[in-house]
Amino acid sequence: MAERIDLTGKVAIVTGAASGMGAVMASALLEAGAQVAGVDLDAAGLERKGAEWSRRHGNRDVFFGLAADIGLIEDCRRAVADTVARFGRLDILVNNAGVNMGLAIPKGATGRVRFWEAVPEGWLRILQINATGAFLMARFATPHMIAGKWGRIVNVTTSYDTMMAPGLSAYGASKSSLEAGTAIWAKELADTGVTANVLVPGGPTDTAFFPPGFPRDGLLKPDLMGPPIRWLASEQSDGVSGYRFIARDWDTSLPAAEAAMKARAPAAWPGLAAAAEAQRK
Ligand SMILES: NC(=O)c1ccc[n+]([C@@H]2O[C@H](COP(=O)([O-])OP(=O)(O)OC[C@H]3O[C@@H](n4cnc5c(N)ncnc54)[C@H](O)[C@@H]3O)[C@@H](O)[C@H]2O)c1
Repeated sequence: MAERIDLTGKVAIVTGAASGMGAVMASALLEAGAQVAGVDLDAAGLERKGAEWSRRHGNRDVFFGLAADIGLIEDCRRAVADTVARFGRLDILVNNAGVNMGLAIPKGATGRVRFWEAVPEGWLRILQINATGAFLMARFATPHMIAGKWGRIVNVTTSYDTMMAPGLSAYGASKSSLEAGTAIWAKELADTGVTANVLVPGGPTDTAFFPPGFPRDGLLKPDLMGPPIRWLASEQSDGVSGYRFIARDWDTSLPAAEAAMKARAPAAWPGLAAAAEAQRK
């Protein structure tokens, strides 16, 4: 049985907390004792989740929902400022909000869209949310963590094969950008006490990401994000930075530190870079 992880006193922002894996991770952090600000475009969804979590936690001031668009600079600045004003600090950022290829698919088209047929404005918007939005949230959140000499950034990207799949040109570009960004951020954050890691489910997952009617057989369950996010957000993962964790590979029968070792690999593609460099010599 996995040990209990205690996040009492920690304050987290989870983007995309109104739905799917974001809701699972916000709930898991609350369960472990953190205070959580949920950031989402979906104000009604945040309201519903907030009411549920407030009831579950004895109506204590543990969660508040912030309706915001992470693709906008001022919304991200406000989301971070409002969290610090409300809870007094900021320790953890989970960059989870994201959109699928829908915005780049021309009206009336079915199936996967090829890059030369993609709606240009939709393509830009996908990058703006999935890649730039995560950067903006981290840009405004990180100074608070550095000031506190401790912090966590967890970026939700996707599986490597999805980053290169035909039909996913905007989605793949946005997630590979965030994956490389995580590796860069981890290096820039060395010796600050703040870490940056990637967490992915490990395959297609049963959330609103897939439209109603999409066959759900064989999809992973979003709940598998709970155990790894609790550990990644905690002091138990001090010094662990620049990795990608696959939730599907997280063995909850092991102590969390052992489960983490088995579910991790370096973020991005340092192996490829090293191999290319070795070949050049
Ligand atoms: N479902 C999968 O198969 C899968 C697999 C790998 C990675 N992911 C990634 O997991 C993350 C969570 O997705 P999910 O599957 O839980 O889907 P979801 O659609 O259930 O949740 C995404 C949430 O992000 C919010 N959001 C979208 N655009 C936003 C914006 N501009 N500002 C603020 N909030 C915004 C949505 O309102 C929604 O609540 C995404 O980044 C997605 O790319 C999903």
